[in-house]
Amino acid sequence: METVCFCSFRMLAFVCVLLLATSVQGHFDEASLDAQWEEWKSTHRKEYNGLGEEGIRRAIWEKNMRMIEAHNEEAALGVHSFEMGMNHLGDMTSEEVVEKMTGLQIPMNRELGLTMEMDDVPSRIPKSVDYRKKGMVTPVKNQGSCGSCWAFSSAGALEGQLAKQTGQLTDLSPQNLVDCVTENDGCGGGYMTNAFKYVNENGGIDSEAAYPYVGEDQPCRYNSSGMAAQCKGYKVIPEGNENALAIALFKVGPVSVGIDATQSSFQFYKHGIYYDRQCNKEDINHAVLAVGYGVNAKGKKYWIVKNSWGEGWGNQGYILMARNRGNLCGIANLASYPIM
Ligand SMILES: *[C@@H]1O[C@H](CO)[C@@H](O)[C@H](O)[C@H]1NC(C)=O
Repeated sequence: METVCFCSFRMLAFVCVLLLATSVQGHFDEASLDAQWEEWKSTHRKEYNGLGEEGIRRAIWEKNMRMIEAHNEEAALGVHSFEMGMNHLGDMTSEEVVEKMTGLQIPMNRELGLTMEMDDVPSRIPKSVDYRKKGMVTPVKNQGSCGSCWAFSSAGALEGQLAKQTGQLTDLSPQNLVDCVTENDGCGGGYMTNAFKYVNENGGIDSEAAYPYVGEDQPCRYNSSGMAAQCKGYKVIPEGNENALAIALFKVGPVSVGIDATQSSFQFYKHGIYYDRQCNKEDINHAVLAVGYGVNAKGKKYWIVKNSWGEGWGNQGYILMARNRGNLCGIANLASYPIM
């Protein structure tokens, strides 16, 4: 026992010395910050309109850098279950990210009649499911500065069902949805079940190859000669039911979900299992795609979530979000999947 105590005391002391060294020597002295800023700008090809704009962006970036560093120091001490990292969103506030890069609009009258039936559900489901390993998930995309998250989420769910049915993985066209789903608002935002409804009524959705993404609103250019998938309807997950979401993932495939993405911890998530108690399940603003679930070596459960902010965001475009921890970020509130 004594040795153990001695050891842990030494480790603690070691950590303290390390922290002290960090703050004295400073990762953040002006010269090194200047260099890091220049490097960040060139990596992400950032150009600004004059020194005024650059000053504002630099201040936001610096604040984000310090926040990330502070979070990771705490994470190293076991305070957090995930780490953060600087990325291409570094010069934006979390408010700007939500304004420019989300776009989930919840309709006034949601059709809850189409709720997934829970009377015929398996009593046991596997400990983990990952549709990336089954060839049912296409590469991570980047929606850019267009509120088209709903289109990427819907296209991703359709891609999953298409792969399940045909064995072939094909990128479907979010731009087709942005331009043609009249019930939605294109880059101004939209909702996933409206997209599934459109594909059903329209008789199909074009492939990405036939109808490439531009990230702006355009007139509808759907052309049935480029059609790559159809959809017969959709189901919604019983609201807030994480168990039902896991069952749907296991039985059906990737599921479109809505989450609160307003936290800067989400903006700079890097790896580990995301959990932020500030995340608000009553304020869902971003659509993403759940592509599986699992449990880590310590028994912590998670959802595997594909975002549409490019591969440079998160863990190669993905985030693991805490599962069965009070419906974190409202992940089980607005979940739905298409029927093919
Ligand atoms: C649809 O695509 C086909 C094949 O590329 C083309 O011949 C046809 O003109 C297109 N139709 C419209 C309305 O653009």
